[in-house]
Amino acid sequence: MTGRAPHPFPFGPTVALELDGHYRKLQESERVARIRMPFGGDAWLVTGYEDTKFVLSDARFSRAATLTMDLPRQQPEIVRDPSMIMSMDPPRHSRLRLLAGPAFSVRSVDRLRPWIAEQVEGLLDTLAAEGPPADLMAGLALPLPVAVICEILGVPFADRDQFRVWSDIVMAVTAFPPEEVFAAFRSLTEYLHRLAELKRREPADDLFSTLVRATDAEGKLTEQELVTFGITLLVVGHETTVNELADMVFVLLRDGVYAELNRGAGPPLPRVLDELLRFIPLESPGGFARVATEDVEVGGVLIRRGEAVYTQLSAANRDPEVFPDGDALDLEIAREQHLTFGYGPHRCMGALLAKAELELAIAALLRRFPGLELAVAPEEVTWKVARLVRGPETLPVTW
Ligand code: HEM
Repeated sequence: MTGRAPHPFPFGPTVALELDGHYRKLQESERVARIRMPFGGDAWLVTGYEDTKFVLSDARFSRAATLTMDLPRQQPEIVRDPSMIMSMDPPRHSRLRLLAGPAFSVRSVDRLRPWIAEQVEGLLDTLAAEGPPADLMAGLALPLPVAVICEILGVPFADRDQFRVWSDIVMAVTAFPPEEVFAAFRSLTEYLHRLAELKRREPADDLFSTLVRATDAEGKLTEQELVTFGITLLVVGHETTVNELADMVFVLLRDGVYAELNRGAGPPLPRVLDELLRFIPLESPGGFARVATEDVEVGGVLIRRGEAVYTQLSAANRDPEVFPDGDALDLEIAREQHLTFGYGPHRCMGALLAKAELELAIAALLRRFPGLELAVAPEEVTWKVARLVRGPETLPVTW
């Protein structure tokens, strides 16, 4: 214990893409701090870069242990699904990573790039035909990631529109009544069971066929783990990429970087995107908790067995000890060591894929819409609230 009173958490409502000033104060005076959670209990919050990496990679901090305790939590209900990859510890976790890993390798992502580029062109054709002005959220950021997930899973083309409707409802969180969200979730689950049957009858060169084989022939997965993995990809691969893409375009336009890139000034696009990934506080407010399975010291503070620890990746990405002047977007320095995709065994499986989507989408925008600008003042853009990640409701643009 630090002996100090716990800080009420979260520190305040999330405001656009601003990172709450409390994180910096804690980084200066209390890098491992006690926090009081809104739905019961106290936990630890780690805000420093090195401490965050330590918590995310040390095997004594468990995700699976969060399933069996009443976790000090941020939301009234928590998803407790032991068949979800993010709730697993090794060896179960490593087995699933090993099975699904090849679908997200450099080679697989390189093979997918032309297909992603084609999807982007199609979406931009529609945008060009219907605007200006246009909503870049609806026209580009929202449809792209789900299309890519369909392609990876091997969802037949005839089913993709329906798949997207269900996933939109499941992802929308507040826009639909809970019964409708629940019904869409059930439809999606049933669909993935049917998809497994299809891949049994007609195996193809896609991730779901590989996982079905691992389930049936090799007994490495349960049917439940298989279906949950399909849903997990949607939950973690869709919402994050949609919002990251919209946030990036917003920052590029707001800060005049878009025009700079169009003049051929500035570093190569992948590097710009890495700095944007570091700078944009996508996560709001804390990520997934870990529980200490034995007493562990973090940054000079003793965390007792059974206590929960939260990290804040966006705060770690601006830790002054690692990123001097980290509150500023600086395209001149390569700062790709950011933690936006996490760290350690649970580090994002789709990081390369997400980067490919972001790069191809933004490169095509720059090429096809050199005069792109926000259609409203930056302060007038409205932001979604009470979500796991931050993003605009709509992104009105013109050209
Ligand atoms: C900009 C977009 C993305 C961001 C910022 C992001 C971020 C993250 C983070 C921070 C984690 C680790 C969570 C933790 O340790 O508690 C994670 C895990 C994961 N991500 Fe992503 N992600 C993105 C896109 C994607 C995409 C496109 C996919 C796949 C389609 C994907 C699949 C996964 C999976 C399967 C995990 C779980 C890994 C595990 O538990 O071992 N992500 N992501």
